[in-house]
Amino acid sequence: MIRKDLDYLVIAAMLVSGLYLAITGLLMGLFASRQFFLHSYAGYASAALTGLHLALNWRRIMAYLRNRLGNRPGGELPTRKQPSPTLTGRRALLTSTGAAIGGFILGRVIPTRWSAGSPRGDMGTLYHQWSKPGYPMPLDAILDWGASPQTYKIYPEAEQIALPDPHDYQGLSLEEAIQKRRSIRDYAPQPLSLEELSRLLYAAQGITDQRRAFRAAPSAGALYPIETYTIVHDVVGLQPGLYHYAVADHALEQLQIKNLRKEIMIAGIAQEMLGQAQACFVLSAVFQRTRWKYRERAYRYVLLEAGHIGQNLYLAATSMGMGACAAGAFLDDELNKLLGLDGEDEAALYMLSVGKRK
Ligand SMILES: Cc1cc2nc3c(=O)[nH]c(=O)nc-3n(C[C@H](O)[C@H](O)[C@H](O)COP(=O)(O)O)c2cc1C
Repeated sequence: MIRKDLDYLVIAAMLVSGLYLAITGLLMGLFASRQFFLHSYAGYASAALTGLHLALNWRRIMAYLRNRLGNRPGGELPTRKQPSPTLTGRRALLTSTGAAIGGFILGRVIPTRWSAGSPRGDMGTLYHQWSKPGYPMPLDAILDWGASPQTYKIYPEAEQIALPDPHDYQGLSLEEAIQKRRSIRDYAPQPLSLEELSRLLYAAQGITDQRRAFRAAPSAGALYPIETYTIVHDVVGLQPGLYHYAVADHALEQLQIKNLRKEIMIAGIAQEMLGQAQACFVLSAVFQRTRWKYRERAYRYVLLEAGHIGQNLYLAATSMGMGACAAGAFLDDELNKLLGLDGEDEAALYMLSVGKRK
């Protein structure tokens, strides 16, 4: 094969790999996929082919540049016949190998956070890498992360129901509650008292330091991204329905009066405990409350905070002789719809059913 044939072959291969790169890039963009390895291999091949193409045409390129820089009109190529070098000349081999190795190093050796091509890169792993403090920090600083919203939500139109004072109750000791806590999914058909509901909500998100408005569960930067909703099935003095916990007033805001046993079970992928419990707590997050300050790290903090609140609910329920069970498995869209949340600015994260122990 003569040099020219090889050059055309390289150009054809470059076209094919370029097309493949474009299609895989487009598909990955379309499906928001982070599995870039097929794309990366085509990238290494393209780099090698480009190197080879450069090497094969090195003399022509140099001659063109010399002519151009020497201000020869049109930068014509010299007419002198080129000596025909060997097809796999040292330069061609070196350039193409160098380009391929360079591409490989770029794709593999630079930190994982930049190489979305890691085959291990599920969304969670990628998010974890991207949210580490480090390189993107200066970039973060110039992006607009929005303003800080109010640290709690109020429903001004909703009827507010005062909750009894949650203090002065002696349940199990912390040690006993930790020892006895189990995920309980089967409840006795006995209503909760309003006092019990009040203590549960206070343990979840109650304001325990009035001066600074700090709450029962810790929160990164005291920004409190979590909202608490209660779906009441059977609580003395309350109509069944959907309520929002008004943190600042330690009160409930009545959002919907309806028996929601069926709806909450549907949203909770048919988990019976959600329909059988006397109350279900849904923890949602208003992401912007934490995001404006902690940027890429905010999502980590928000999930951790839901966990803190969930554990407080577990322990408070156990301490009062009730049972609780977490539910992370639910249909997000159904649950958000039930609570009237858009699922983006505010979304349900975690559910807990609570009821009397059998
Ligand atoms: C994040 C999270 C999600 C969970 N989701 C569910 C769930 O959807 N349904 C369920 O029945 N239990 C759920 N659980 C409860 C676990 O199954 C339970 O904690 C585990 O079996 C250990 O039992 P224990 O809580 O009694 O110690 C969840 C627990 C956690 C921490």
